[in-house]
Amino acid sequence: MVKSIGIRKLKTAIFISGNGSNMKNLIRFSKTKNSPIVVDFVLSNNKKANGIIHLKKTKINFKIFNFKQRNNDEKKILDILEERKIHLICLAGFMKILSKNFIKKFNGKILNIHPSLLPKYKGLNTHERVILNNEKFSGCTVHIVNERLDSGKIILQKKVKISKKDNSETLSKKILKQEHLLYPKALRKMLSKI
Ligand code: GAR
Repeated sequence: MVKSIGIRKLKTAIFISGNGSNMKNLIRFSKTKNSPIVVDFVLSNNKKANGIIHLKKTKINFKIFNFKQRNNDEKKILDILEERKIHLICLAGFMKILSKNFIKKFNGKILNIHPSLLPKYKGLNTHERVILNNEKFSGCTVHIVNERLDSGKIILQKKVKISKKDNSETLSKKILKQEHLLYPKALRKMLSKI
């Protein structure tokens, strides 16, 4: 933990795969007054992730692991996380599946944001499936990661109304906006209890 102006901030790593808008938002949040986290490290499985372009303009440490040899990569990642004394991992658009062993080592300390109202629409292509099923509502969920995909304890959810004009792209934008509000809120909620 890092002590900053009277409050303890949890050293946090963010894992990304793509655009990194949730990552950017969490970095912004970490710099706000009384934020409970400090972003110390970012991991991407994709060296071309847009999020990496942004990180190059910051002082935040990052590394790329392509997860082609997941067990090897995870061992190296665990070493880095231990060395940097990381207490919390926030998955933010991270599209790789972590092993049971990795999740066990960070038991209860990995959070994920998923663009649906879990337990509905776990997995990929969420918005496409929601639109195809003519759902009236979708949303986003922040949950603790356990060994089953998108199934851990829910911390917070936000419901979003789907309009008749929405397609998967417009819905994804609408939900992403809400994700940016929900992730910081969920972190505050979870971390106020420890
Ligand atoms: C977000 O909508 C996030 O919820 C989703 O990927 C997007 C990443 O956007 N995550 C998943 O689908 C995880 N299964 P971002 O890179 O701009 O944060």
